[in-house]
Amino acid sequence: MSILIKNIKELLQVRQTNVTIVKGEDMKTLPTLKNAYLIIENDTIVEYGPMSAYTEYEADEVIDAAGKMVLPAWCDSHTHIVYAGDRSQEFVDRINGLTYEEIAERGGGILNSAEVLQNTSEEDLYEQSLKRLNNVMQLGTGAIEIKSGYGLTVEAELKMLRVIKRLKKESLAVIKTTLLAAHAVPKDYKDNKTGYVDLIVSEMIPEVGNAKLADYVDVFCEKGYFNLEDTDRILAAGKAHGMIPKIHVNQFNAFGGVALAVKHKARSVDHLEEMRPEDIEALKGSGTMPVALPSCSYFLSIPYSPARQIIDAGLPLALATDYNPGSTPSGNMNFVVSTACIKMKMTPEEAINAATINGAYAMGISNQYGSICRGKKANIIITKEIPSYNNLPYAFGDNLIDTVIVRGKILKK
Ligand code: NIG
Ligand code: FE
Repeated sequence: MSILIKNIKELLQVRQTNVTIVKGEDMKTLPTLKNAYLIIENDTIVEYGPMSAYTEYEADEVIDAAGKMVLPAWCDSHTHIVYAGDRSQEFVDRINGLTYEEIAERGGGILNSAEVLQNTSEEDLYEQSLKRLNNVMQLGTGAIEIKSGYGLTVEAELKMLRVIKRLKKESLAVIKTTLLAAHAVPKDYKDNKTGYVDLIVSEMIPEVGNAKLADYVDVFCEKGYFNLEDTDRILAAGKAHGMIPKIHVNQFNAFGGVALAVKHKARSVDHLEEMRPEDIEALKGSGTMPVALPSCSYFLSIPYSPARQIIDAGLPLALATDYNPGSTPSGNMNFVVSTACIKMKMTPEEAINAATINGAYAMGISNQYGSICRGKKANIIITKEIPSYNNLPYAFGDNLIDTVIVRGKILKK
């Protein structure tokens, strides 16, 4: 199967193979090629160039992209799309004055989702999750990380991970899996958090590691959830069983989780709504990707991650959705890119870099995804006709995506 896309108004994010992360000042540049063509064979980008250099090529499928932009599909490195039911009632409770923290303290929040998920069959959970996955793929997401964390028992966490495994097998999406057993302290361990951390470290992690069900291990390092000591134990245990650390940190409080994650060589530190100068310092010179989740800030009305401080310090930044039923019931990367520009003062170039190549880095797949490059995998967005790529973030809330190609296959609308 081969696809030729020709007359592309502008081909975005064209990079050499060895570029797998973009940092600081370099994030301001988005390398592009105007009036271009692109050739895909099976699941791989095999050729691209200016139309002036195009020579006749017999493709199975020819797409005329006159007036349109072509770019790598979004790489969403932080989601919780496997969940059951929703929390629209808590949304209304917040409108009526309760805070996210108050809802959680009353046993709502993550524990609410855990109860629903524990009582949902694996098949039903799979169907609900597949629907969300198909929906975000239509919105341009080609690669996605999915976390467990609404099970909170050995059995229910494994159920979530098996659902992710099945999505991986049956969907075209490129999926990375994260064990987030340390998402909240379950009701049964209300007064015995250490007992739950022991369960994670001595049972869940070894079992998940042996079954090779997760690429990453994650912890919600936050007041009222897991402290530095818990986080240290869980990340160390995950590493010992072949899982690379990632972490939810500095969402509401900053108390040293970023430095701890860097010490554990975490792939990414996510949220970062509250950043102190020492957190920025800790990230310098590390291989850890800071990840901002602006849709979460939007939905909870909490501060946005200080993207300017992070990027201006020479660091890289990735953008992801955090799609989950409590703090971000949206998996729309287009909205994330817009919100990053509007609220975090990222330039369109920075935001597109953050949502493609750097998102891929945060999933450990930027050698294969996140840029237009010969030999890389063909996860591609073709936009509608737009005057410039600036229109992607500018026209917030509008759907400017015409066609999505994942692993070299054109998604049916
Ligand atoms: O990333 N911060 C922790 N976890 C999720 C929210 C989970 C929920 O409320 O269900 C987040 O925002
Ligand atoms: Fe999250």
